[in-house]
Amino acid sequence: MNARPQKIVCIGAGYVGGPTMAVIAARCPDVQVTVLDLNAARIAAWNSESLPVFEPGLPEVVRQVRGRNLHFLAQAQGVAALAEADVVFISVQTPTKTSGAGAGKASDLQYVEACARLIAEHARGHTIVVEKSTMPVRAAERIQQILSTTQTGGTFAVLSNPEFLAEGTAIRDLEQPDRVLIGGEDPAAVAALKSIYATWVAPEKILTTGLWSAELSKLAANAFLAQRVSSINALSALCEKTGAEVAEVAAVVGTDSRIGPKFLQASVGFGGSCFQKDLLSLIYLCEHHGLPEVAAYWQGVVDINEWQKHRFAKVVQQVAVSGRIAVLGLAFKKDTNDFRESAALAVCRSLLQAGLEVVAYDPRVDGSRFAAELGHPARFSVASTVSAALAGAGAVAVLTEWEEFKSIAWASVQLLPGAVICDGRNVVDRAAVQQAGYGLRVIGSAAP
Ligand code: NAD
Ligand code: UDX
Repeated sequence: MNARPQKIVCIGAGYVGGPTMAVIAARCPDVQVTVLDLNAARIAAWNSESLPVFEPGLPEVVRQVRGRNLHFLAQAQGVAALAEADVVFISVQTPTKTSGAGAGKASDLQYVEACARLIAEHARGHTIVVEKSTMPVRAAERIQQILSTTQTGGTFAVLSNPEFLAEGTAIRDLEQPDRVLIGGEDPAAVAALKSIYATWVAPEKILTTGLWSAELSKLAANAFLAQRVSSINALSALCEKTGAEVAEVAAVVGTDSRIGPKFLQASVGFGGSCFQKDLLSLIYLCEHHGLPEVAAYWQGVVDINEWQKHRFAKVVQQVAVSGRIAVLGLAFKKDTNDFRESAALAVCRSLLQAGLEVVAYDPRVDGSRFAAELGHPARFSVASTVSAALAGAGAVAVLTEWEEFKSIAWASVQLLPGAVICDGRNVVDRAAVQQAGYGLRVIGSAAP
């Protein structure tokens, strides 16, 4: 089958499934798109005015297509859609395994396998099954094996179509991608999926490869990006010792056209649901295939990131003039409500373990969910404004690069006298802090 698919189902209505299907539905009005999720509350939120994912531009796209050719359904209600689907995207989580073989490193494919079993049970006719989730290399083999147990007489082609969107810029990344990658061995299936993206993506940006290359390319791309962050973060520590400014070093290094300026912003450490888990998955694959030197190379990227988070938390503890710390930013980056693997989790845990009190503020993160993730510690609370978080604090930790943190009027906040602002993102207005008489420590910049 290489006709343009008419019916698409996506299993998983998360940060990837929701926005990706919304953009496909918007760009392909002739295609019916159904998104299923086991989590009925999440589906209800997708059908409400308060979407479960905060992404600039997302509400506008959803409003345009929801109920027209985009439908969010709880799995129990919508499973019949699988029988009619030409294409089924698997867009569920692939977290790091917490038990069994490979625990702590390997990807947990239980959610993906559950999807494959569901498809095997319900699909009819010929169905293209697309790995949208990030998978270890050769995961498609396992999916094919499960699909082959079908009793419906259905036939399947499995493709890898990893997603490269970044949170906070998801809609722009989906609408104007650097590239779309389709890996597969069945030319008709590849052509069918390509026909969807070709509606709005230039043909030269739609790359086709073998299945295993596509699966590995996604892990490799994230590993390279994370490696850049760990490289500049490693240098940030040397800058603090030597008086070099990491932002200046990054600007100079980045002007080399072979290196490029992006992803060289020193930080308190990368977070998010992808980098660490995908690095660990890559490390596990290397170990599994008897390549300990390669595994150790990528492990260094993870280790520097852990070290950076703890190093920063230690500075905050050392400079605080009282036991009350204001934390600005809980999201793992700006323009998202996502705090999975956020540096803020590590820093808050470290401060709380040291016996300090933390008052946090974030414009988008649900503070009660963040507190629950920390285990509801008594000394952790959430303020609803920057000034409320800062009031009476003996140190400030700026952990996310939200725009509003760049223009804080430091002269009019109520910190304790002598309080120190620890800027883990290099976004704070240094002159305003100095004029207000507070101390300042900036990542990648020598202490005054
Ligand atoms: P997520 O946790 O936000 O969403 C996954 C959804 O799948 C959840 O709502 C969950 O309830 C649902 N689900 C799980 N098992 C199910 C099942 N058997 N049937 C129906 N629904 C089920 O995850 P995400 O951030 O959207 O990531 C999904 C995948 O995409 C991961 O592999 C991730 O690595 C990859 N990815 C994520 C990003 C990102 O920025 N978040 C970017 C690129 C790729
Ligand atoms: C990443 C990849 O960019 C994306 O292609 C992939 O599909 C999913 O994983 P995401 O995790 O959403 O996307 O955000 P990203 O912009 O990559 O940032 C990841 C982390 O690195 C954030 O914590 C961010 O603050 C940090 N970062 C990024 C830096 O510390 N410095 C930088 O220069 C860039």
